[in-house]
Amino acid sequence: MNKGTCILAIESSCDETSASVCVDGQILSNYIANQSVHEQYGGVVPELASRAHIQNIVPVVDAALRTAGCQLADVDAIAFTQAPGLIGSLLVGAQFAKSLSLALQKPLIAVHHMQAHVLANLIPTRTAEGNENSVPTFPFLCLTVSGGHTQIVLAKSPLDLEVIGETIDDAAGEAFDKSAKLLGLPYPGGPLVDKRAKLGNPLAFQFAEPQIPELNFSFSGLKTSVLYFLQKQPAGFIEQNLDDLCASIQHTIVNILLKKVKKAIQQTGVRNVCIAGGVSANSGLRTALQQMGEKHGWKTFIPKFEYCTDNAAMIAITAWYKYQAAEFTTLDISPSARAEW
Ligand code: KG4
Ligand code: ZN
Repeated sequence: MNKGTCILAIESSCDETSASVCVDGQILSNYIANQSVHEQYGGVVPELASRAHIQNIVPVVDAALRTAGCQLADVDAIAFTQAPGLIGSLLVGAQFAKSLSLALQKPLIAVHHMQAHVLANLIPTRTAEGNENSVPTFPFLCLTVSGGHTQIVLAKSPLDLEVIGETIDDAAGEAFDKSAKLLGLPYPGGPLVDKRAKLGNPLAFQFAEPQIPELNFSFSGLKTSVLYFLQKQPAGFIEQNLDDLCASIQHTIVNILLKKVKKAIQQTGVRNVCIAGGVSANSGLRTALQQMGEKHGWKTFIPKFEYCTDNAAMIAITAWYKYQAAEFTTLDISPSARAEW
């Protein structure tokens, strides 16, 4: 293969086992194995996730290397998600990466999962016409919305990120998933709400929006608001109004998120805005952000779909910046379920 700096990256923080190969910042492969085992339980079961990671990790790394057309001998550094996440899941990826680092005698790079979600916006991607999509210039703001986090991040450079707002309770992804559960939809409900919302009226029902100071968010009240509303309705109401309910819930969540993005832009004066994390795959959020950007003259950036939900390409791109800054770690590093930036 062409020589350049080749990084093998591994992501295993929750229920996706993923590996990616990047050469000089270009993503050559991004292989993701989803774990369907959790669907029947209505949420991720940590012990089952760890076991599935153990089963998946060798074939996933092998597939990532083969797709990229390279071999272990070509790898110059190994990167892994160190935090935050489910500890048993993180341990599988961390131990695998450490073992490879030791066996190949190549440096190890520890990556913060939330930092990687933000830097997913820096992955150059090609459009259908073969043109390279533009990536944001610094400084930029990033709304990071996933199943575990909801943050507004001010990115001053690839390795200088500051959290300027975050949720005080549930994450936006939880708001989608918990509301979906109340509607009888299986886990994870976010993508299903998105799908049904496309067919419904977003203004059909009104749900309370919280008044939270500064750039922080709260989503726990929305679930309660949906619950109380549904309890007052006659039998069969959900089935008859599912599309409108999904559209209205999605509209409320998107509104809560984008009001704070607008406030963050007013406060910082930074007009480059990105989104990241699993919920950034939401079509309502993507469209609304684009429309607001056009209306207010912001530059908006939305990562390619496969780089929105958990994936190792975002770990690889972050590791590429860390590699250039010689930010390596030693073999005694432990993964951490919770970690501040
Ligand atoms: O970033 P991610 O893949 O994993 C975490 O680190 O949490 O995010 C998963 C979350 C779940 O809550 C899922 O329901 C939500 O992202 N999600 C969506 C969509 N796709 C994934 N929520 C709304 N609309 C979507 N299209
Ligand atoms: Zn994530």
